[in-house]
Amino acid sequence: MTAADNPPESHRREVVSFVRHRARMTPAQQRAWREHGPDHLVEVDKGAGHGAISAGQSVDWSAVFGRRSELVVEIGSGAGDSLVAMAAERPDLDIVAFEVFQPGIAATMIKLNRAGVRNVRLVEGNGVHGLQHLFAPGSLAGIWVFFPDPWPKTRHHKRRLVNPEFAALAASRLRPGGRLLAATDWAPYADRMRRVLDAEPELINEHPDGWAPRPAGRVITRFEGRGERAGHDIRDLSYRRR
Ligand SMILES: C[S@@+](CC[C@H](N)C(=O)[O-])C[C@H]1O[C@@H](n2cnc3c(N)ncnc32)[C@H](O)[C@@H]1O
Repeated sequence: MTAADNPPESHRREVVSFVRHRARMTPAQQRAWREHGPDHLVEVDKGAGHGAISAGQSVDWSAVFGRRSELVVEIGSGAGDSLVAMAAERPDLDIVAFEVFQPGIAATMIKLNRAGVRNVRLVEGNGVHGLQHLFAPGSLAGIWVFFPDPWPKTRHHKRRLVNPEFAALAASRLRPGGRLLAATDWAPYADRMRRVLDAEPELINEHPDGWAPRPAGRVITRFEGRGERAGHDIRDLSYRRR
């Protein structure tokens, strides 16, 4: 075996939970990005690789939002439907949403503008890196992961966002009593999330005898609708940091 067969950790290609879509933004999305990007987007230092956010930086979130409020992170906000509705439902929260898909981010900007929602900021990049590098341990009131890509094929399971490392990272970033909310329409992933999150010693399942209720404002998105039409049950999970 040569060194190339077993490269050091830093040279190995990172397994990420998203695919790189080639989709371009529509003209309306491009306009929204140009005109409203500065109001909604937080620019961070990018690392090497699609979506990578580099270590060794910090963001003063109370300066970004212009107030000191409870902070929530959403990972994979998609086109922003549930994000915008949940942010409108909870104007007391400041929400930082990570997404790698530019047209989704632009669509979210348009919805934020229409709804006049001001307590959301968007970061283009990998939310796992974002959690790691942009938030101090114990600083978050919530982490939301709604309909993460299910990666149904066995050979792709390693790409699932919710895995033991993610559970430990999420638990470390939540403050005591902070909540991790997740939802999926893919039953095997729901079961896997539950096993992984139940095994994280810092997290407590708030509904050990069943699934969690749907959170207020979590409207039906395109992904959830598609799952429902395919006959899938929707499963919510809610965990509290010890
Ligand atoms: C199936 S979609 C669901 C979108 C949205 N939450 C909803 O319910 O409609 C999953 C989204 O997560 C994004 N995503 C996956 N992994 C991510 C990561 N590590 N960081 C940021 N976004 C991610 C994908 O680009 C995609 O838009």
